[in-house]
Amino acid sequence: MQYKQLPDGTQIPVLGLGTWDIGGRDTPDRTRDDELTELLQRIIRMGYTHLDTAEYYGGTHTEELVGRAIQAFARDDVFITTKVSPEHLGYADVHKSLDASLRRLQTDYVDLYLIHWPSQTIPLTETFPALNEAVADGRVRRVGVSNFDVALMEESMRLCQTPIATNQVRYNLLDRKPVQNGVLDFCQRHNILLTAYSPLKGGVLSNSTVTAIAQKHGVPPGQVAIQWLIQQPGVITIPKSTNVNHLQDNLDALKLGLDEEDLGQLDMIDD
Ligand SMILES: NC(=O)c1ccc[n+]([C@@H]2O[C@H](COP(=O)([O-])OP(=O)(O)OC[C@H]3O[C@@H](n4cnc5c(N)ncnc54)[C@H](OP(=O)(O)O)[C@@H]3O)[C@@H](O)[C@H]2O)c1
Repeated sequence: MQYKQLPDGTQIPVLGLGTWDIGGRDTPDRTRDDELTELLQRIIRMGYTHLDTAEYYGGTHTEELVGRAIQAFARDDVFITTKVSPEHLGYADVHKSLDASLRRLQTDYVDLYLIHWPSQTIPLTETFPALNEAVADGRVRRVGVSNFDVALMEESMRLCQTPIATNQVRYNLLDRKPVQNGVLDFCQRHNILLTAYSPLKGGVLSNSTVTAIAQKHGVPPGQVAIQWLIQQPGVITIPKSTNVNHLQDNLDALKLGLDEEDLGQLDMIDD
């Protein structure tokens, strides 16, 4: 595994495991709990020690599965990110949501706690005092945001008593919004990691430029998509898979070297 530096000087794996759709989408699916718990443990042993989840995923059940899986490991050996939903961004609700997440995850702290989406109605001035308290009392090691634009990131930096660790946004070869709206540049200038979600979605794997470069290197297209992200300063990514072959392919992306010609062609995809 390769690592990048968080603002507090600690390290985070460049490749984490997305967990959306593991144990249900927006409602719990408990039919494969034992199988999925064992699979998550196998995935962690493969090297995916950073698990990205959220209270929203599986109607809270995904956190329960992650919690079951990590009991087989020393707590320090895994890095757990979870997220508070936008309807829970009020001061008291943040505390309540966090405590419920910790119970489901069977742990007394999360490594990274993100605001999943900004709320249209609850101001960040309600949210951050609770997040700051959660850092101070040790339930949260680092605070981050997700789906925030530059203005919201600036406001978050003013309200957060610790450095904002990451902004988790959709970013892939076919979706360059974080470049267009300045979020990537802002993150890079302020030492905030950009966590790219949905790195493989939206037709990335069948794009003709991507498949041609993959063919040239003799690798599956997903590796081109993942390497393109993580070779960028301050960018990490969290592809989701429950297919062990795909998971190994995605790890092997760390070994792929894209040359100047490849990067030039990939940059032009969006033109
Ligand atoms: N913050 C947010 O608002 C937000 C929003 C969306 C997602 N996320 C997070 O980001 C994670 C990743 O995003 P995502 O799940 O939307 O999309 P993704 O990781 O880009 O794509 C997942 C899909 O790609 C397939 N896949 C994975 N590796 C593959 C490979 N090597 N070859 C072919 N297919 C492959 C998976 O199927 P198999 O399982 O069959 O491999 C799955 O269907 C989520 O799980 C979640 O943790 C966050």
